[in-house]
Parts: sequence; C-alpha cells; structure tokens
Amino acid sequence: MFRTMEAARLETLHVVSDPSGLQALVAIHSSRLGPALGGCRYLSYPSEESALRDVVRLAASMSRKAALAGLPLGGGKAVILRPPYVASRAALFEVFGRFVDRLGGHFIAAIDSGTSSADMDCIARHTRHVACTSEEGDPAPHTALGVFAGIRATALARLGSDNLEDLRIAIQGLGKVGYALAEQLHAAGAELLVSDPDPGRVRLAVEAFGAHPLPCAELLCTPCDILAPCALGGVLDAPTIAHLRCAAVAGAANDQLVSEDLAEQLEARGILYAPDYVINAGGLIHAYYSHQGASSGVVAEHLLQIPQRLTDLYAHAQAEHCSPAWVAQQQADRLLYG
Ligand code: NAI
Repeated sequence: MFRTMEAARLETLHVVSDPSGLQALVAIHSSRLGPALGGCRYLSYPSEESALRDVVRLAASMSRKAALAGLPLGGGKAVILRPPYVASRAALFEVFGRFVDRLGGHFIAAIDSGTSSADMDCIARHTRHVACTSEEGDPAPHTALGVFAGIRATALARLGSDNLEDLRIAIQGLGKVGYALAEQLHAAGAELLVSDPDPGRVRLAVEAFGAHPLPCAELLCTPCDILAPCALGGVLDAPTIAHLRCAAVAGAANDQLVSEDLAEQLEARGILYAPDYVINAGGLIHAYYSHQGASSGVVAEHLLQIPQRLTDLYAHAQAEHCSPAWVAQQQADRLLYG
C-alpha cells in the first residue's frame, strides 16, 4: 500500500470501515492548490487491491485535471465498495457523509460512476463538503459539452476543419456523458457508430440519432475519424492501439491509457490524442462553480476554455515534436510540484 502511495505521490489515504457495512477509501493526491474535490465511485470491485489502484490513479488524475483547468482545487477521489446486499443505500451514504465531514473540508465529495445527486443529498445531511447535490445538479451534461467542444478543436488540429458534418465518430459507452455527447454530435451532422453492453441505450441512440450499432469488441478498431471512449478507463493498451483505425482519440473516460507512455505509441501512429483529464474537465468545472453558487454563465465561460486549452496543447506538442499528453503532464507537474 505504501509503495502504491509513494509511486503516485499521494498525500493521504483514508480507509473507512464502519459497522453499518460501509467500506470506503478516500485518496487525497494533492492539496497544494486547494481542497480536493473528487467523485465518489460506488462499484463492486473484484478485490481490495483493485479498489486501491482505482482510487489512487483517479485521485492523481483529478490533481492534474483541476490544475490544468485553472481551478483552486487539489485532487482526490473516493471509492465506496458496493456490498452484494445493502439494507438502506441512503443510510450507507449518510454514514459516508459523517466521515467526509470529519475530513474538515480537505475532501469535497461529488458524483462519479455509480452515484447520483440523490446519493450526494444523503451525504449533504451530514456535511457541507459535498457538491453535485440535487440543487447543484449533475455534472455529466457539462462534461459532454466540454468533450463536444474538445472534439471540434481536435478535428481542427488533425483534420483541418472543426466542421463535424459527415465525420464518422465512434462513441464507446452511451451512459450519462456518452449519450449527451451523441446528441450534440448528431445535431452537428456527424455520423455516429456506437456501442454499449446495455441494448436499451443502443436502441435509443439508433432511433434518436440514426447511429450505427456495433458490438463492444469491434468499436475500438472500426474505421472512423474520431474515437470517443466514454465508458471505462484503461481501454487503450498497446495491442489495442496497434489496431486503431482513427485519426484522433477524444473522449470523456478517465484514465483511457493503460500507461502514460502509450501516448507516444499513438503519436507514432499519427493518431492525435486529447489528454483525457483536459478534455473531460467540464464536469469538475461545473461541480466547482455551482458549489460556489456561481451562475450558469460563469460555468459556461470556463467550460468554453477547454477547446482553446487543447488547441494550445496541440500547437505546443507539434512545435516540440512530442505528444500532447506529455506536454499536459509537464504543465500539470509544474503547477503541482514546481
Ligand atoms: P455511466 O456509468 O453513466 O456510463 C458508462 C456507460 O458505458 C454505460 O452505459 C455502460 O453500459 C457503458 N459501458 C461499460 N462497458 C462498456 C464497454 N466495454 N463498451 C461500451 N460501453 C460500455 O458513466 P458516465 O458518467 O457517462 O461517464 C463515462 C466516463 O466518463 C467514465 O469513465 C467517467 O469516469 C468519465 N467521466 C465522467 C464525468 C461525468 O461528469 N459523469 C466527468 C469526467 C469523466
């Protein structure tokens, strides 16, 4: 455990085990730029080690995401291990809320995979250090908006135009973000290829956007202009990258690359990669500003800086003959450790 923490340069790791059945990990990667606002995952994990790996990796990405988005926030994440049976989900999240309160504002809880505004409302009964409540709203549509704008910036950099009409865009995962993204891409005239293990989500996209459904295993290597991973992390390993048939990868999923050096493999194949923690910052931007009580205009103004940030990264990377992921990492490290 200590080796994992050290390798990720994690500040603190909180382990929660409560007689109510709550088992959770809260990782605070960095508090240099401010309190750590991070999502709470509620998932069943195959092992405690995999939960630890997930929370540590995601907390580190949150530090970079907040730093590059110019937010006065550190980076952190929570995972609540989903039990096979729970008598009262609300009670479980309330206990978690009491724990978050004891952290005294060093960690601000938010929505992530498996949690909703209703869960945040339960946490909010015991602490004010929680964002994305019913009152503040779900960040997913804002994440999708940022990714959409980021896809346009990526198309401009790689294909010479930000007009998405008739571009073939493959979306992996039609959840909260993927479906909202599909809606915007369809409105912009893109041809959509989609996959999701949930046939109901796929049917909706086929009916509403004329999307072409593909089996999950085929989507990643299908010929397309832009691949948008919007499902799970760790989708791009070396063999998968060798089989990609796209000009660019630009999607919402956190931690898309199995390891950071794979950005160079993408670069070598001429595939432009939008660093995930840059393009998917819209949800964090929304969570932070709405928690501050800012207006939707302020949120929109900050969201619209995402495409410019990507354009600058791409130009910098081209000038330095390196990958945008490497430039993003250097910039974030300077802010976090410089
Ligand atoms: P979600 O849980 O609503 O949707 C994920 C979707 O992916 C589900 O429909 C699921 O069935 C599908 N899926 C799972 N395995 C798949 C596979 N092998 N192939 C195709 N589809 C598969 O999650 P959400 O909120 O839409 O987030 C999507 C991704 O974006 C996640 O990686 C999340 O961490 C990341 N993200 C989300 C943010 C948000 O505001 N919700 C913010 C930043 C990142």
